[in-house]
Amino acid sequence: MGNTIPFGTTPQGRQVELLTLDNGQISCRILTLGATLQALEVPDGQGRKVDVVLGYDTLTEYLENDGYLGAVVGRYANRIAAGRFSLNGRDYTLAVNNGPNHLHGGLVGYSHRVWQVAELTDTQAVLTLDSPDGEEGYPGHVQVQVTYALSGTSLTIHYQAVTDADTPCNLTNHAYFNLSGHDSGNTMDQELQLRAESYTPTDETSIPLGTVEPVEGTPMDFRALTPLGERIDAPFLQLQLGNGYDHNYVVQGDTGTLRPCATALSRRSGIVMEVETTSPGVQLYTANFVPQGRKGKGGCAYGPRHAFCLETQFFPDSPNQPAFPDALLRPGKPFDHTTRFTFSTLQ
Ligand code: GLA
Repeated sequence: MGNTIPFGTTPQGRQVELLTLDNGQISCRILTLGATLQALEVPDGQGRKVDVVLGYDTLTEYLENDGYLGAVVGRYANRIAAGRFSLNGRDYTLAVNNGPNHLHGGLVGYSHRVWQVAELTDTQAVLTLDSPDGEEGYPGHVQVQVTYALSGTSLTIHYQAVTDADTPCNLTNHAYFNLSGHDSGNTMDQELQLRAESYTPTDETSIPLGTVEPVEGTPMDFRALTPLGERIDAPFLQLQLGNGYDHNYVVQGDTGTLRPCATALSRRSGIVMEVETTSPGVQLYTANFVPQGRKGKGGCAYGPRHAFCLETQFFPDSPNQPAFPDALLRPGKPFDHTTRFTFSTLQ
């Protein structure tokens, strides 16, 4: 059971596999490099299969290009200011790999490690990763397990991790969605609704200021279904800083409970995506930094705003922000979060 094909060998000699899951309604492909979601095919309004996530055809492109397309990122997704934090009276220093800050786990984060396949069926893949004490500067030996599972028209990603010492931990998937098809260009006509009343504004290096601000009356407001591009170029400082949306929203409701987070849709394909999560936040990122003409799957060309990411997460820089939800993983208290993407079509 379960379909696996070789996807190439890393410069270190590690073989990378491509796994396929298919339940007859939706299908996806997952790389053991970064536990990466390489493709996700869902039916459009005409019943044709459309691949709604950006990706590459070769291992070399995954290794050489930045952007974390479809990868599971960790040990700490998003940014930690200046790559520094203090924990239990000790100061820790992490790699600075994004301007002055630490981003997505550092130089060789979970997105760039080769994961083990612990279990594979036609509809479920369990991938594991051993993250040693001191890896990328983080304390504690962490064992990570990520499960991709198809059911009906849903893809569920379940993140689990245990540690032997206190450590910041924040796991997400960095899929770039284009609900008109990964190769269909600009997504600014696609519509988004976020179940969020507030967000965490940032400084010019994308580090949260520490405040939680209401979205009301600003172009950050996605409480009602709104085209992504409608206000993206508004003269609003937060949008000008990141050249578009690149912000953490506070998901309404209780952390730990699987609850609605977002709805997105394309009127071109008719594809609707519902996102539910147990995480406290979600990063809306409109692919602002994807280079123009970046070659994608099948030889197509990607560019800025050709996708949007909904990275369910703990808030960026939580290790330095005492007012944010606690993103510390402790011995005996596993990390256990779930995000579910459900697809349907417009009537
Ligand atoms: C996240 C960050 C962005 C960017 C992308 C990867 O979404 O918030 O600023 O770094 O990852 O390119």
